[in-house]
Amino acid sequence: VDLSDANTLRLPARAECFAAPETLEALAACVRDAREQGWALNLLGGSSNVLLPARLKGAVIRPRLKQWWLETRDDAVMVYVGAGVNWHSLVMTLAQRGLWGVENLALIPGDCGAAPVQNIGAYGVELSDVLEGVQVMSRQDETLTWLSPDECTFGYRDSVFKRSLRDKVIITRLALRLSRTARPVLGYGDLARRVSQQPSSLEIAQRVCEIRREKLPDPAQLPNAGSFFKNPLISADKAEKLLARYPNMPNFPQADGRYKIAAGWLIDRCGLKGARFGAFGVHEHQALVLVHFGGGDRAELLKVAERIAATVEARFGIALEIEPRCL
Ligand code: EPU
Repeated sequence: VDLSDANTLRLPARAECFAAPETLEALAACVRDAREQGWALNLLGGSSNVLLPARLKGAVIRPRLKQWWLETRDDAVMVYVGAGVNWHSLVMTLAQRGLWGVENLALIPGDCGAAPVQNIGAYGVELSDVLEGVQVMSRQDETLTWLSPDECTFGYRDSVFKRSLRDKVIITRLALRLSRTARPVLGYGDLARRVSQQPSSLEIAQRVCEIRREKLPDPAQLPNAGSFFKNPLISADKAEKLLARYPNMPNFPQADGRYKIAAGWLIDRCGLKGARFGAFGVHEHQALVLVHFGGGDRAELLKVAERIAATVEARFGIALEIEPRCL
């Protein structure tokens, strides 16, 4: 099966076997089959945040669990959503219904099932702010369990699904707690400036889409996987020294005393915005996004990323970490 057109970076990739189960029973059957045959299992959602190798060993499963429903609970509205639902369409449907909680996360590509893995976040909101539980299927015996937010150990672009539960479970369903009462999150200046006095959640979602469309390339036109690096966290000591030299450096003090630094700004300051390296390049409007002009593969992309990271490290003494998942 050719997955080259199915990943948003358009990296050339082939898998020996591909399945898109639509029910929990069908998914369990795939997991059991793979285990009995001794095949490796690769789980994919929308493939908008993965770096695929040219050849994926074993089977690829894309869960197509599409059911979702709402339950009213006092002031809250619980949303139960299958892993195969497109995240952005869910956000727009909920915002259209006047519900609050996920509007800042509009236009993030990918399936709902992938959202907890990196704890998707944008414009001051992270998935973990509204997540009440994640239902997972064991790869060992296909049993279903609900994990609490604590058990998911969410962090910035991080969760247990990247760590101890990596390759152990398959995310099948999310439970989100939304509110009927307005609770706009407008800490991100560019967003606050664009909305009216008392914006609806739908208006916020629409403005977020506008901002994203201005800065981030549309993968359908210019293949990419969104931010290619995480924003690094550095010590207060290091941040103060850098700020003395670069007073305009965007910086975000964290609860733990560290500072989050904008990797896009660091790359931009190295003069790399818009730079081209063979088949890949640094996006001209957002230096944190690497784009694929065609003809490249993962090995070449990783070399380009290393070169960019080495340039930033040499200039600022800050190590950058790749954000998308390397399968
Ligand atoms: N900046 C530059 N030059 C650039 C890019 C950014 O100077 O080329 C500066 C901006 O002016 C701003 C700061 O860096 O002062 C931060 O930039 P921006 O607001 O565009 O956000 P970001 O830190 O680059 C993060 C997320 C995005 C998310 C936005 C908005 C990460 C790795 N990325 O980007 O998430 O949409 O904030 O909240 O945390 C993604 O993960 O794929 C993604 C797009």
